[in-house]
Amino acid sequence: MSDYVWWKHGVFYQIYPRSFMDSNGDGIGDLQGIIDRMDYLVDLGVDAIWISPFYESPMKDFGYDISNHKAIHPLFGDMETLDRLIISAHERRLRVVLDYVPNHTSDQHPWFLEARSSREHSKREWFLWKDPHPQGGPPNNWESFFGGSAWEWDKANQQYYLHLFLKEQPDVNWRNPDLASAMLDIMHFWLKKGVDGLRVDAVIACLKHPDFPDNPIHDNHPFTQIGLSQEPKYTVDQPDLHDLLREFRHVSDQYEDRVLLGETGLFDWESLMRYYGQALDEFQIPFNFQLMFTPWNVQAMQQKITEYYAHLPQGAMPNFVLGNHDAPRVATRFGHQNHRSVGMLLLTLYGIPTLYYGDELGMENGIIPPDQIQDPWALNKPEAGMGRDPMRTPMQWDASSHAGFTSANATPWLPVAVNYKECNVDIQRKDPQSTLHFYKKLLHLRRTSPALHRGNLNFLKGLPENILGYARLWEAQHWLVLINFGEDSCLLNLPEVEGDGKVLLSSHSRDETSVSLKNIELEPHESLLLEIGASFTEDH
Ligand code: GLC
Ligand code: CA
Repeated sequence: MSDYVWWKHGVFYQIYPRSFMDSNGDGIGDLQGIIDRMDYLVDLGVDAIWISPFYESPMKDFGYDISNHKAIHPLFGDMETLDRLIISAHERRLRVVLDYVPNHTSDQHPWFLEARSSREHSKREWFLWKDPHPQGGPPNNWESFFGGSAWEWDKANQQYYLHLFLKEQPDVNWRNPDLASAMLDIMHFWLKKGVDGLRVDAVIACLKHPDFPDNPIHDNHPFTQIGLSQEPKYTVDQPDLHDLLREFRHVSDQYEDRVLLGETGLFDWESLMRYYGQALDEFQIPFNFQLMFTPWNVQAMQQKITEYYAHLPQGAMPNFVLGNHDAPRVATRFGHQNHRSVGMLLLTLYGIPTLYYGDELGMENGIIPPDQIQDPWALNKPEAGMGRDPMRTPMQWDASSHAGFTSANATPWLPVAVNYKECNVDIQRKDPQSTLHFYKKLLHLRRTSPALHRGNLNFLKGLPENILGYARLWEAQHWLVLINFGEDSCLLNLPEVEGDGKVLLSSHSRDETSVSLKNIELEPHESLLLEIGASFTEDH
């Protein structure tokens, strides 16, 4: 395939490094742990790993508060370990994507310490300082995503600084050219090192409205779903942000074959699509999170997916994210009984999938006793119910103590989820009917079949209300996906196709190898992948 571009047809796998594998028994996952488990990832069949931050950091937001962008926190290893990780991944044809956090630094970053040291310092304008409001208090009403005012009073120099996340995460000022070039230099640093791409954190917030107007307060805007009580009209998605994103892309395009993924948490399609760039010159993959906010319901899902495709710019590659380190586990959110169907959906839709570690086992949200809560979002703003510890519990490797994540006498940084004895890699690896095998087969089918990784998608018409069905078509390869969202079994007579379908995969491990397309019985919550020969006509 001469037009093969690795990121267009591959599957990304997100690793939250604190939680994946601890190699040295301190209870915290590390880079050596990822190296030690690399063969697992290759065997699973993913194409790229995206590793959340492991840079030097006071860990107020578990690494998203960076105090040195070009150094590795000793908890995770050192530069030599990372070099080995990249080599070891590349030897196995696995790509490596790192997190790039351009919106803020840690308050312990030397840039901020210098900026804070005096109003006259040359780096003062690298951050966003403001005098109090004429009537006193913060300069405007901007709210932090993590709760409370986004302004922190700096007593020494009698000004406020802006932080859209924690007060220990001051926002940088991208309108300052020196800051901009220092930040872009960090991109060069990692791309030069040979990483295959960067996932750009909180990117929609990088530029703020230059006049700092108050954000409108009303409670019927979609950002309330992530806990905000105001519309972030002047804090995110500013029009001139796109000039900056073209610069990001310009940097990345100076290196061969790299990809930029953007954390574009936007709720309306037009805004989201702008992040591809008018000339497709911004993100190759502006994350599409919309299915995360969609209930497990056929009509709702089909509508979101259809709308998304309809809005895609010409030539843009769609993508889907269903789980990550900021959202409840898919098996918990959509229901345990649906967890394989979630995998079927994610890996058979037309679009680049991002898989979150452990979802291939059906891992559930962990239960975190109140005195063990770590996530600052949960601690700062418990009422928002946005605590992220439950989805960051240790990867479940086996049935030994701490699920094999760390040594027996260590204390894992978060408690292991209670179901680890039944739900772990070791047990599932030995069971051909397990969720792990289901994912492995799906990943293999996706990789080897053009219909799945690049074919058109056509929804089937006239299906019972609990059945989501679509065809994936590539030349003579016609495949069908059928997902039963309902609690009852369902007899299907597919109106648009004739003959028999070859069973490629079922969430329910069927014995038969073929089914009549006029008479398919789907079990409750079953999802089925069929090959139907070239019997589907595209013009409807
Ligand atoms: C992004 C990250 C999240 C982090 C925040 C601040 O939303 O995904 O985990 O807390 O940015 O950096
Ligand atoms: Ca460790």
